[in-house]
Amino acid sequence: MADQHSVVDGIHYHQHDVVIVGAGGAGMRAAIESAPKASTAVITKLYPTRSHTGAAQGGMAAALANVEEDSNEWHTYDTVKGGDYLVDQDSAEILTREAIDAVYDLENMGLPFNRTEDGKIDQRRFGGHTRDHGKAPVRRACYAADRTGHMILQTLYQNCVKHGVEFFNEFYALDLIMTEVDGVKRPAGIVAYELATGEIHVFQGKSVVFATGGFGKIYKTTSNAHTLTGDGVGIIWRKGLPLEDMEFYQFHPTGLAGLGILLTEGARGEGAILRNASGERFMERYAPTIKDLAPRDIVARSMVQEVLDGRGAGPHKDYVYLDCTHLGAEVLETKLPDITEFARTYLGVDPVTERVPVYPTAHYAMGGIPTNNDAQVLSDNETVVPGLYAAGECACVSVHGSNRLGTNSLLDINVFGKRAGNNAVAYAQTADFVPLPADAADGVVKMLAQLRESDGSESVAELRKALQETMDRNAQVFRTEETLQTALADVEKLRRRYPNVKVHDRGRRFNTDLLEAVELGFLLDLAEVLVYSAINRKESRGAHMRDDYPTRDDENFMQHTMAYLTAGLESPASDHIRLDWKPVRFTQYQPTERKY
Ligand code: FUM
Repeated sequence: MADQHSVVDGIHYHQHDVVIVGAGGAGMRAAIESAPKASTAVITKLYPTRSHTGAAQGGMAAALANVEEDSNEWHTYDTVKGGDYLVDQDSAEILTREAIDAVYDLENMGLPFNRTEDGKIDQRRFGGHTRDHGKAPVRRACYAADRTGHMILQTLYQNCVKHGVEFFNEFYALDLIMTEVDGVKRPAGIVAYELATGEIHVFQGKSVVFATGGFGKIYKTTSNAHTLTGDGVGIIWRKGLPLEDMEFYQFHPTGLAGLGILLTEGARGEGAILRNASGERFMERYAPTIKDLAPRDIVARSMVQEVLDGRGAGPHKDYVYLDCTHLGAEVLETKLPDITEFARTYLGVDPVTERVPVYPTAHYAMGGIPTNNDAQVLSDNETVVPGLYAAGECACVSVHGSNRLGTNSLLDINVFGKRAGNNAVAYAQTADFVPLPADAADGVVKMLAQLRESDGSESVAELRKALQETMDRNAQVFRTEETLQTALADVEKLRRRYPNVKVHDRGRRFNTDLLEAVELGFLLDLAEVLVYSAINRKESRGAHMRDDYPTRDDENFMQHTMAYLTAGLESPASDHIRLDWKPVRFTQYQPTERKY
């Protein structure tokens, strides 16, 4: 069934069985499952092949054992230990078991993986992925040079086109319409803003999938693209649905110093080494067994510690080096061509002959929209919202716990994107459309009118800069009560100033000025819930390192954080955010001391 389209009072109405928000890896993987069986719309703020999945570089984990012995069980163990035991272990088992098919699905769709000499998919080492429960790094990451995400995105897009997925490109989803049916709230559709025209569209769907990615732009120094403003997670939050484990935000160790642009961990997988100012391979002190290939939280902390202890390099002693010089030009040009070029272009440093200045960069949200293993969104610890799904970085299954392993996110989007698509289409095949309220688009129309017509004096760019600066300073790799309280006070002040922002462009067509103001609202909401959750977790675990509570406290905090919005966003966080806990699901691994 093609798009059912009508226009009433200037609002466009569309009808599709499955409505997917986001055209990154998770959204398109979901669409490939649903489009052959039901009419499927993908609403995306970007042209699909510009989605941020394309920036993922080093690989996708799967225990194919193509180049050395490996097993799903080792992969599960690494994922659970890497996540500092906050991982839901049944979910991790699904992730690692379905990894194998996820890779072969992509291969069958045409993805040009690097090959071994005998023609199998080649595999490389990556942080935290080990042989036999931590004995040594293992080659588990399937890759396409250092463009794995780019290749996945192109491959999925081509297959979406083949299956007749209907894309609505440069449409910004701004609201989820929920309607109560028989006492249960269900999704009725999505309200979106068309960038080219400024017109409002309502997409009615029997099922709705959120695959909107992360929100790295709450930080200044980040590997994330400008578009990663957490709109999807923010929409869910404003609807009164909970968010899970928001305090766990990952810093990727090797961002280009001062810029945050990603240099893949695949470089260390190929043998690159981190060195401090005096040339010491300092990871030997922090993770004696797997050294530079320890999980990201540990490597990022070790780098920052080197700088804090005065062993940083450069005029301000504020970065360390990634040394690739021993890898040779051929490995760099063939297996790591993009990052080689990035270092040359952005820092004027040639990795073939020079060490590259690097420092941790905000990279990935472990937390997000709580889902079960079928990608169904939860309205509390276990109640499913019928017809509503989420997958990818915006979701929290939770397969990453408090710290994701590199290459498990390209895996996550494929495994849980596929599950989301399958389950959303199965639901749509049995369910009816939920009626749209007459005023479905009113909230968005009003919000946009208020922003567009505001005569305020605040600048969106300045508020965003202030937000990013306080998050960079105060909600970083190392945190304390004091820094987090400072961040919270700053975010609350910015939220009070936000209604007074001025949008200079009053026009309708391509009004990115207006949309940046909308995005800032989502960033502020998400930064607030991140910091508020972080204050409440008085322990150190995974990516959440509290200097004032430096150890993991399983007795009190071996639980997921669940945050709920209880009142209007105008009040201080303590008046509108309620925090609760959700048990972690264990299968075979009991928490032990996390040594590498
Ligand atoms: O280092 C990288 O290539 C990033 C991969 C990831 O975040 O999984």
